[in-house]
Amino acid sequence: EKVAVLYGGNSAERDVSLNSGIAVAKGLTAAGFNVELIDTKLLPLSELSTKEIDRVFIALHGRGGEDGCLQGALEYLNIPYTGSKVLGSALSMDKVRSKQIFKANDLPTAPFTVVNKEDFADLPLAQILTDLGGRIMVKPANEGSSIGMAQAKTVEQLNNALIEAFSFDQQVLLEAWIEGPEYTVAILGNQALPSIHMETPREFYDYEAKYQSTTTQYHCPSGLSADDEAEIQRLALQAFKATNAQGWGRVDVMRNSDGIWQLLEVNTVPGMTETSLVPKSAKVHGLSFSELVTQILLLSEP
Ligand code: DAL
Ligand code: MG
Repeated sequence: EKVAVLYGGNSAERDVSLNSGIAVAKGLTAAGFNVELIDTKLLPLSELSTKEIDRVFIALHGRGGEDGCLQGALEYLNIPYTGSKVLGSALSMDKVRSKQIFKANDLPTAPFTVVNKEDFADLPLAQILTDLGGRIMVKPANEGSSIGMAQAKTVEQLNNALIEAFSFDQQVLLEAWIEGPEYTVAILGNQALPSIHMETPREFYDYEAKYQSTTTQYHCPSGLSADDEAEIQRLALQAFKATNAQGWGRVDVMRNSDGIWQLLEVNTVPGMTETSLVPKSAKVHGLSFSELVTQILLLSEP
């Protein structure tokens, strides 16, 4: 069986994807699969159908690869692929729609508002800042790896953060700041794996903390009580189902100063380098990297 690992691509998370793809290809090769690593920036998708590929492992993050576009193309080509289908991919990629869905399902998520680029000049920034508690996390609606994100405590900071965020997206999520630790839960099939607690001395778990810093600490097991671990896993699975995600993924959660869980988002193609979060959690669960990517691939059975 020939497996294409699609990686690279054109999104802002290209560099992360290059690392994920190489690690996944290595893991699948070690498990005995016949693997071809394909950078979608260099190969037009239409050429995929000429390569006699039996299955695709999607190792693309962000736009084009994680947001339902590629998934739709693979449906059209009738090639089985890993992870979420079109709808689950698109909904999970969009942080605004994700939070609307969490709310509609009574799942806890921090207060927020959404702003559109065409309204930027007329936005009542001072009012928005006050309404969201005086401290805001500004996020492009459809990005990953904290790209384009910034916090704002003043109108000037909010204005600058919006200029930056609107350079990535037409729509921006303004979320009330959550003071508290960040956790993440990997999902494999119908199962939540052990949670991870991320700790950074930086203001938040940003791109540098994720990929460049040596001061970020990862705790897995996360140190939660058995009851809290059960609760965060239950919540992560509910969020995963709510956005119609499938196969595998990772749900990011914070715990606010009142001890209440706050869902951030679902990632349908989480980072998959050997040191990424999902492989860390899988290892504690008893799965090697090679076993993990094999299971993800086999979940793609049509
Ligand atoms: N968006 C990055 C790759 C992650 O969620 O791990
Ligand atoms: Mg993400």
